[in-house]
Amino acid sequence: MSETQQHVGWTSRWTFIMAATGSAVGLGNIWKFPYIAGENGGGAFVLVYLLCIALVGLPVLITEILLGRAGRSNPVDAMIKHARASDVSKAWGLVGVMGIIAGLMVMSFYSVVAGWVLDYIFESADGAFVGKDAAAIGQYFETTLLDNHILQLSWHSVFTLLTMAVIAAGVNRGLGNAVRILMPMLFVLLLVLLGYSYQHGDFMAGVHFLFDVDFSKLSGESVLIAMGHAFFTLSIGLGSIMVYGSYMPDNASIPRTAVTVAFLDTLIALVAGLAIFPLVFAHGIEPGAGPGLMFVSLPIAFGAMPGGAVFGAMFFVLVAIAAWSSAISLVEPAVAWICENTKVPRPAAAALIGAVVWTGGAACIFVDGVFDKMDFIASNILLPLGGLAMAIFATWVMKRKIAKTQLKELSYNQFNLWYAVTRVFTPIGVIVVFLNAIGVFSWIL
Ligand code: TRP
Repeated sequence: MSETQQHVGWTSRWTFIMAATGSAVGLGNIWKFPYIAGENGGGAFVLVYLLCIALVGLPVLITEILLGRAGRSNPVDAMIKHARASDVSKAWGLVGVMGIIAGLMVMSFYSVVAGWVLDYIFESADGAFVGKDAAAIGQYFETTLLDNHILQLSWHSVFTLLTMAVIAAGVNRGLGNAVRILMPMLFVLLLVLLGYSYQHGDFMAGVHFLFDVDFSKLSGESVLIAMGHAFFTLSIGLGSIMVYGSYMPDNASIPRTAVTVAFLDTLIALVAGLAIFPLVFAHGIEPGAGPGLMFVSLPIAFGAMPGGAVFGAMFFVLVAIAAWSSAISLVEPAVAWICENTKVPRPAAAALIGAVVWTGGAACIFVDGVFDKMDFIASNILLPLGGLAMAIFATWVMKRKIAKTQLKELSYNQFNLWYAVTRVFTPIGVIVVFLNAIGVFSWIL
């Protein structure tokens, strides 16, 4: 079988936009963004995150899609192909290898958190949150769920299985349709929650926290986390979007797609933040409470509103589906690489990768500190490094004509803007944030 036959394309232009949005919108927006914004002091962190989305994230998103579409294979082989065509070392394939490893690391803890979401579907439906205050819900989260490792492991196993089942069948089936209907539904439910927080929470306290900028609260590490999250939330730097780009039809506009995805993704994160923080402040929850923030604050709303049990269950179902469509893109680079380089059939490759990430998740559950370390290393180091390498490759190494052809919808000036930003600004930005986080500037100055 030829490679092109093995590497099937998306059936329509829309499928790509939906798949990319499905990948980008996930726990990063609804769970991670609010909790890290809370831990890093709010406003200034949010501003840096938004700047990183616009100045680093969007250029890299465009770059990663074009590298994928021009490469037409999994991230490792796409990079090798591009490197060969440019007469440079095949070692550029390591960008893909690093991405595969980062994907497995992210999936390990991602699947644990998605497991919490699955648990909350049933708790909500059972009415467990009805009439409960922040303290009682916090107690449930910490004690009944987190302290019960076997329960966590079970839900983590369910989520891993669900993800690997889709991967085994092939990414093109079913996914687009699920995303097309369910993502807008999730958005509507978030708006309802926002309305609840507006009426019953301390809305202005939430707004001030998220948007009042006070740079004195911002450390070098916070800036690194904000940048890492720009990569995380857009699903870039790892190969997810490259592998999806490789399935993208030639008639779809990469820049327009990228802008749409970045816009929707940012919108959903901000709405989630605005729904959560007013509840946090109205109910005396610590903004820096950590990964439990969403799991302790939102159920207060579900417990107090009429029909909250059903509404809450629906909400967590949709969050689980958003997490599912993201998780698929985290492991697809690894599975695509196996399928395109060995004779191992797709279901077996999916089972193998499933076993690896299942073990990683078990380590996150049972061994203290593993969860945080996997997140920190993958999100704040590997993703920006991957994005940096892609930006440098596409604008310093590869022939300019390749990018020009892929971005043919851009005007002369627009193309030059993307090129200059990706070639100069993005690399300098990422490097400065790295150096700043390890304290280089405070030694020198
Ligand atoms: N972007 C997803 C989220 O916000 C997670 C994700 C999926 C991801 N694929 C990725 C993160 C690739 C980094 C790289 O939940």
